[in-house]
Amino acid sequence: MATNGDGRRELERLAERIRYHEDAYRRGEPELLDSEFDELYDQYVELADTLGVPAAERLDAAPGADHTEGFETVEHRVPMLSLEKLSPNRKDSRGAPIPLGEQLAQWYARRLKELELAPGARVPLLVEPKIDGISVSLVYEAGVLVRAVTRGDGRSGDVITRQVEESGAVPRRLDGLASGALEIRGELYWPISAFRAHNARLERAGERAIINPRNGCAGLMKRKDPEGLGEAGIRAFLYHVPWTEGVALPDTQSAILGWLRARGAPVYPEDQFARVGDAAEALAYCEAFGARRGALDFDIDGMVIKIDELRWYARLGETGHHPHWGIAYKFPPERKATRLLEVSVQVGKSGKLTPVAHLEPVELAQTTVSRASLHNFVEVERKDIRIGDLVYVEKAGEIIPQVVGVARDARPPDARPVSRPAVCPSCEAPVTDEGIFLYCLNEACPAKVCERLVHFASRAAMDVEGLGDKLVEQLARAGLVSEPHHFFALTLGQLAGLERMGDKSGQNVLDALEKAKARGLAKVLVGLSIRHLGERMAEDLAAYFGSAERLLELAGRYVAGDPEAVAALAPDKGTGAIEGLAKKTADVIFAELDSPRVRAILAGLKERGVSLDAVVERREEIAGVAGKTFVLTGTLPTLKRKDAEDRIKRAGGKTSGSVSKKTDYVVRGDEAGSKLEKAAQLGVAVIDEAELLRLLGGA
Ligand code: IVH
Repeated sequence: MATNGDGRRELERLAERIRYHEDAYRRGEPELLDSEFDELYDQYVELADTLGVPAAERLDAAPGADHTEGFETVEHRVPMLSLEKLSPNRKDSRGAPIPLGEQLAQWYARRLKELELAPGARVPLLVEPKIDGISVSLVYEAGVLVRAVTRGDGRSGDVITRQVEESGAVPRRLDGLASGALEIRGELYWPISAFRAHNARLERAGERAIINPRNGCAGLMKRKDPEGLGEAGIRAFLYHVPWTEGVALPDTQSAILGWLRARGAPVYPEDQFARVGDAAEALAYCEAFGARRGALDFDIDGMVIKIDELRWYARLGETGHHPHWGIAYKFPPERKATRLLEVSVQVGKSGKLTPVAHLEPVELAQTTVSRASLHNFVEVERKDIRIGDLVYVEKAGEIIPQVVGVARDARPPDARPVSRPAVCPSCEAPVTDEGIFLYCLNEACPAKVCERLVHFASRAAMDVEGLGDKLVEQLARAGLVSEPHHFFALTLGQLAGLERMGDKSGQNVLDALEKAKARGLAKVLVGLSIRHLGERMAEDLAAYFGSAERLLELAGRYVAGDPEAVAALAPDKGTGAIEGLAKKTADVIFAELDSPRVRAILAGLKERGVSLDAVVERREEIAGVAGKTFVLTGTLPTLKRKDAEDRIKRAGGKTSGSVSKKTDYVVRGDEAGSKLEKAAQLGVAVIDEAELLRLLGGA
């Protein structure tokens, strides 16, 4: 039997793998199929649930999740939690998949037990679509909308009141509520028809189309100037009321939907949700709904099943991540068959050659798919995919489409095998085999150069606003830029002289470049497109070395085989000073860092005033706080929770979401919950904000 410590270590290992693959995905070099990635993620979520890991410490609820610079952040009065998921990937101990129906039955049986009801009892459930939008919290006082806030990290989110008001998605005033206050939660979404109409307008204006309705909706809600937002046609479905003051609510979720509708709030139409008697009926409704989801004017990624009667909620409770009164049902991914017309080869920024499938266009999850990733040539050979074949394409959620298999029996006689390229399609340099991937190692390869420059300016790296792939391509083609530091030598004349650019847009790019100079070492390292050097590793390296100078000095010694440097950084077994940096990875990263090319880029950046120092959060240990673990509960009188946590961390302390024997202090605020009881049981000291401030003051 695994101990909790083992579980935590396994969870960290899973997290590390997920971060690695997310990073690879963000670099445009995915190494896993989406279904494999989903499976990994589900394993993580399941283990985190089993261990009761609180939201703030989990990958799937990273603090500050969607915070945007320039938006005011406020704390949610009641945290916005996630939902537990039934997953098509869950397996039993022998590796056999557990059918969704069985998972749901198990979940339902656990609820009955917690409610001390007989195993065969029927507790009605409400089943609703799980819309793929952005969650929003709305506070109404005396019937008037006073605040709209994003989910954020679940504890605090960004204030988007004006954006929501302008969007016209929810009423500014609810009918028949002259007094009292309440919070209503729901989902903002972009109806597919409105999204398409908007894209058609963009296209006519010669602008780039928005890729999907969900991200498009999130982008609109973060628009600094919301005037005219109403034209986009954003809509909302509201489904939950976490608290009220002086407002009486009905006692079931389903009746609340009717109550909200009567007050003019947008809720799911009557034929899109159902109150059912038990888990089996809920499953049948989910499956039936899945068959008609293609006809809806919005994307859904599953259904939500909720205990309908609110009187049970307090008894059922919640983890730091999800309440026990609801669960999400995820549809199996939509799959279509289509013809593989051609296979082209794409060159990534690391020189990796990826086969790309060109398909006869097919409608999949509300978008037309005509291209799909084939990942690598080994995969193509393993699946024996041939040009002319009828192939199966899958798309899970918003993720890029994949070719998942071939209809062998429908193979036309003239189907042609996909041949591995012997030379790079961009520069014709010979390609090199590395594991399952093929690489173009020519540093001057035009495709590679361009991809690297685009990556340098991208959000993951230096985040230079306005410097997108089209402009980078123009600059590279004009011979103005071939390495990152060249960006910082651009002049207004050069920028403004490019097609579709002018003085104003040129100056904007220069301003954005100026701003990017202060991003710091970690971002610069990410921008170098070095293999295995993703965001997390870059942060760790920057934090450890503090400056590019020290990093390069050690990289040089490492590459030269200096035993001290090797022993410190990446010993043969396990990892050295930098967690997760194993020998094989270190060899690649340090060799590239030490290369003349990277040294020249870093020197060039420095010369042009780009900061190559780590942006360090100043940490000053305070005795009495350093090394201690704090759990915050309830609302503190003056400090925001996030600020309190930051101050504890800066003083060398740790914060955790749940009380355990390792907790040193529980800090009690207003409306503190069950954590106080737990603290009492375990004999953990409970202090208030004043006491915490005294500790932080060093007294
Ligand atoms: S109830 C404790 N109902 O799904 C959260 N959520 O994966 C209770 N969502 O954060 C949420 N449709 O943003 C609920 N009908 C629905 C939903 C729904 C979409 C979203 C919501 C939530 C996320 C959880």
